[in-house]
Amino acid sequence: MEIREITLEELDPEKFIKEQVAQISKAVGKGIAINALSGGVDSSVVTLLAHKALGKRLRTYFVENGIMREGEPKRIVALFKSLGVPVELYDARNEFFGALKGLTDPEQKREAITQTFYKTVFGKLVRDSGAKFLLQGTNYTDVEETIAGIKRQHNILAQLGIDTKKKFGYTVLEPIIQLRKSGVRKVGKALGLPEELYNRPPFPGPALSARVIGEVTPERVKVVRQATAIVEDELSTSGAFQYLAILHEDKVTGIRDGARDFGMQIEVRCWESTDAVTGTPTALRFEKLTKLADRISTEVKGVVSVTYNITKKPPSTIEAV
Ligand code: XMP
Repeated sequence: MEIREITLEELDPEKFIKEQVAQISKAVGKGIAINALSGGVDSSVVTLLAHKALGKRLRTYFVENGIMREGEPKRIVALFKSLGVPVELYDARNEFFGALKGLTDPEQKREAITQTFYKTVFGKLVRDSGAKFLLQGTNYTDVEETIAGIKRQHNILAQLGIDTKKKFGYTVLEPIIQLRKSGVRKVGKALGLPEELYNRPPFPGPALSARVIGEVTPERVKVVRQATAIVEDELSTSGAFQYLAILHEDKVTGIRDGARDFGMQIEVRCWESTDAVTGTPTALRFEKLTKLADRISTEVKGVVSVTYNITKKPPSTIEAV
């Protein structure tokens, strides 16, 4: 399937919204559709487009998969409630951690998330609701990178030849597939999303599991979640494109209170980018870097080393997994 990009320059947000709302209405007809809201700008925009098109015939779920950021599930559900969009919280922590158990290979971890998300969780929600459609926020960059074989973004299905109707029992609709992130933000603003959402730094679909090198366990996710909260707190005013914490697999020798402390390593990344296709590490002030190291190594139990990535994308990627 050939997908034509709509560039930022040619994008007319009002016209785009009208067209997509009409297309969603036409595709779903009198039926029911469901969608997954993660609180990122892509899924937030799709939620509002679909809500405009379908109203009560849209069932929006926030899947609590256990790998989201601190306080995120409740905050996003409350925020959309205030926008008039009901969102149901669906607890799938056991399903996700069960599927990720014992896996260390990045692509196997992505595949486990894909299967749990589309087959186990959404397969069930679709069957229970009688919906025939799943709306999701795949964007143009997701498709491009997956097709180029760089990284299989978890939400790419049809472009890889996966027939979701046969495999999972529903059709996937992707209203923002022609837009890059900057275009999605523009549409989000036009839709009346609050700025904290339409200007949100990107966050990967596989959530914190994309930031845990090695096995993804509840304990290891807790470590990266705490480090992420500190990084976001310290860097939210940096103006950077994206900032994150990564938990490494190898432990290193540290020293605490005069005794050997063989502990974990956190890597901080902070990116300048416009579209995530290429990226340059932000030249953070050294005082900021040492503050990050001090906070993470004292506030996150078991961390004895904090490093900062200084490698561009390419050859690095934004995330580590
Ligand atoms: P990479 O790591 O490929 O990331 O340089 C490019 C952008 O995409 C985000 N990312 C993902 N988003 N599913 C997603 O929805 C994924 O599997 C995934 N992996 C990376 C990443 O945060 C960055 O903004």
